[in-house]
Amino acid sequence: MDLSTTIAGVRFPTCLMNASGALCVTKAELEALGQSRSGAIVTKSMTPAFRQGNPEPRYYSFPGGSINSMGLPNLGYPAYADIIPTLQTFGKPVIASIAGLSPPDFLEAARAITAVSPDLIEVNLSCPNIAGKPQIGYDVEASRALLLELKKIVTVPMGVKLPPYFDPVHYEITARMLLDVKVDFMTVINSVGNGLVVDPEEERVVIKPRYGFGGLGGAMIKPVALANVRAFWKLIGDSIPIIGTGGVVSGTDMFEHILCGAKAVQIGTALVDEGVGVFQRLEKELGELLQRKGYASLSDCRGRLQEL
Ligand code: SIN
Repeated sequence: MDLSTTIAGVRFPTCLMNASGALCVTKAELEALGQSRSGAIVTKSMTPAFRQGNPEPRYYSFPGGSINSMGLPNLGYPAYADIIPTLQTFGKPVIASIAGLSPPDFLEAARAITAVSPDLIEVNLSCPNIAGKPQIGYDVEASRALLLELKKIVTVPMGVKLPPYFDPVHYEITARMLLDVKVDFMTVINSVGNGLVVDPEEERVVIKPRYGFGGLGGAMIKPVALANVRAFWKLIGDSIPIIGTGGVVSGTDMFEHILCGAKAVQIGTALVDEGVGVFQRLEKELGELLQRKGYASLSDCRGRLQEL
């Protein structure tokens, strides 16, 4: 079964890959993704300087999902600029994820990373875990201004990683802005920000930073992720390719993202739980499901979710 896909003119050998954040901070982790069945190597969101991130424990997995408040731990863009040429020898696209605590941080990272020509750049507008720094993706005019500046610098396909939206009007104004700016792809969604998980036995929170508040991921967020993929696909169609992210634990979950309109899918919590072997399992499960349903390719079913 051919599970390849093309996003912004870049061919991916398979339509599944890691989500930025999951096992993609260090050179060793990135090379392990290169050696795995992941269809791309997505870096951790990089900032101008090395960041230790938030205090530990900052990631907690539980039945049904995960909560994290990592705080953008990363090596800093100069280190990733050094590593990216090596990553490109694995024969799959490299997506550099850039972030920042202020617009100048993003521009600085974009300048340095564009110089080493990753295959695509994903602009992270949606980290929920930095105290005092709201998710830019919830401010459509701030997002527009930042993306327009970045467009002047970035010469490879540039996409955005969005937070989840919960109101039809927010889908509409965000879709309009992304079409105006002409982003090349969109990754939908980042974690569901500012959740709280409680351990009732210990009568306390499960992660240390920010009083226990953090971004939710894993199976429990799949309906929110699917709603965002579907809502944007209905507004934008194929004008901006969508990478679906959120709640993918099985080949069936991938299929649901594709039915909603996703051209590719990213894996976060399941990758942290299972390691890079997850890609082979998911690829097999999706291939078998498509075959059982009589689909010859992804494009035969993509976006074809039926309504009642
Ligand atoms: C983090 O590093 O806190 C998570 C990154 C993200 O959610 O964008």
